[in-house]
Amino acid sequence: MIPQSFISDLLNRVDIVDVVGRYVQLKKGGANFMGLCPFHNEKSPSFTVSPTKQFYHCFGCGAHGTSIGFLIEYSGMGFVDAVKDLAQSVGMVVPDADDRIPPAQRAQMQAQSMALSEAMSVACDYYRAQLRTAPQAIAYLKGRGLTGEIAARFGLGYAPGGWDNLRAVFPDYEAVALVEAGLIIDRVDEEGHKTKRYDRFRDRVMFPIRNTKGQVIAFGGRIMDQGEPKYLNSPETPLFSKGSELYGLFEARQAIRDAGYVLVTEGYMDVVALAQMGFPQAVATLGTACTPTHVQKLLRQTDDVIFSFDGDKAGRRAARRALEACLPHVSDNKTIKFLFLPAEHDPDSYIREHGAPAFEQQVQEAMPLSQFLLREVAGEHDLGEPEGRARTQFDAKPLLQAMAPSALRLQIVRGLAGMTQSTPAEIEGLFELAKPVSVARRAPPRAGRPEPVGLELQLVRHLVAHPALALEIDASALAAFAALGPSAAERLGQLVQMGCALGQHGGFAALAQQLKEQGGEYDAIISEIAAEPESDVEAVRVFTHGAIRQIKGDALKAELNALAGSGLSAAEIGARYREISAQLDQLQREAEAERANR
Ligand code: UTP
Ligand code: MN
Repeated sequence: MIPQSFISDLLNRVDIVDVVGRYVQLKKGGANFMGLCPFHNEKSPSFTVSPTKQFYHCFGCGAHGTSIGFLIEYSGMGFVDAVKDLAQSVGMVVPDADDRIPPAQRAQMQAQSMALSEAMSVACDYYRAQLRTAPQAIAYLKGRGLTGEIAARFGLGYAPGGWDNLRAVFPDYEAVALVEAGLIIDRVDEEGHKTKRYDRFRDRVMFPIRNTKGQVIAFGGRIMDQGEPKYLNSPETPLFSKGSELYGLFEARQAIRDAGYVLVTEGYMDVVALAQMGFPQAVATLGTACTPTHVQKLLRQTDDVIFSFDGDKAGRRAARRALEACLPHVSDNKTIKFLFLPAEHDPDSYIREHGAPAFEQQVQEAMPLSQFLLREVAGEHDLGEPEGRARTQFDAKPLLQAMAPSALRLQIVRGLAGMTQSTPAEIEGLFELAKPVSVARRAPPRAGRPEPVGLELQLVRHLVAHPALALEIDASALAAFAALGPSAAERLGQLVQMGCALGQHGGFAALAQQLKEQGGEYDAIISEIAAEPESDVEAVRVFTHGAIRQIKGDALKAELNALAGSGLSAAEIGARYREISAQLDQLQREAEAERANR
């Protein structure tokens, strides 16, 4: 958990105009900046960025959020990564709640991770430069059908032969960072002493692997003739984890948006060749099985994922793993499909041999997840026999249990029921599917609070737009909120508490970010505030004070009216009457003072 105070400080330090401006061309227009919305296709700009609110808002598609939200939506980073990214850009170090590392050491660690990415970027430039002067490597890439343009787009390079070429590239070949970045290997003798260090990548064509920000975090190096391994990859490093990165995602991002789907392949060459042949929306897993993290990352980019697998046995196994990785993420607004190429082909060889239209045809005909799942569980079982049908159900059970209840799950259950001479209800019962979709009524409305209305709504909007106002709301006001009803009192109380926690410098963006993480209750209000011109804080303050006085006054008057029937003694009623009258007078005086001040 990253502390809320850090998020708030961070949002105060970064400027959303810079953050968005890195990806979207912005022009100043009045108080805001305008540009073409990166989240939907448009020809005239309806995307605005407000420097005062530190918030973006699109009048076309309604997309809105803070700098953090923008990075998450735009680059597909997770929340923590987006926070880390922004923090790094302004020289802040993200504190870790359960991390007892002293600040000095943490600063050193941060410097080190920058040293690692710096080293990777220097190495990448070096390999690229080497490619220009390496006829055999150029010939290899040409021989595989690649143009210079596509090689440049993917930053392909060449690591020359020889054991320590990087010695001439880095001022300090002994730097620890070079080993940690995976560029250099320490040879260790029998006694465990480091003897000599040498370059990991030698005489290989180099494929840089970039993260979603475009920074080089690893390499894959292909041998040019026969030899093992065919591809040598960077080890796991602080920058690089195979199980969560996808080759080509950075390069493919825009194309994925344009095409409306992402094509997931198994190889570096597949991605590069497909891009050249007109399918720039391709990415690849890095010689590992597809993980749920991969799937999650992909589904952040698009609702449509098509996996392509080689037609061989290994491809079929890989498809099965991908299926399993997808199941927890299946939902009714996502489509996942599987494409199986003829046995001897991968996408690269297929598109080269049969051409782009034939490949497009394959994409069109890809098998939907539901069909693939049913085919997998049927396997070789004889559905004509009770045992075969039982075995099919047995194999299907863990797969269906991995899925959340959805219309698609119900469809698969139906399909399975048909195949195995059962009913959907029997299968859902047998599999103990948590919430059977076939019998469940439509989900009842979330037992949330009623929507705010009237005065409550106005106060909520002001407290969200100007959280620092909370500091001016005292305990007696909080008590008076009860007069608006329990849910209003609770909601306003929470907003005041959050605003106070953010303090004097708490702004709309910080609070909006925090509210968003708690769920969608405030989405509509946040969106309205984002879309409006900046409100005048002074006017809002006057309104808020007036509203609070009114609430307090109404509560007092209600009590006054109820006094006679309250069952108190005459003396007690008299005393309370005088107290209430005094408080009402006080409210009156406050109102006059405020009016005089204006
Ligand atoms: P393949 O063996 O199918 O090779 O490995 P490929 O992608 O078709 O490569 P080309 O076309 O011969 O150049 C598929 C993927 O598995 C990983 C790589 O990511 C590769 O692209 N792999 C394979 C390795 O990491 N190391 C290896 O030695 C082999
Ligand atoms: Mn290949």
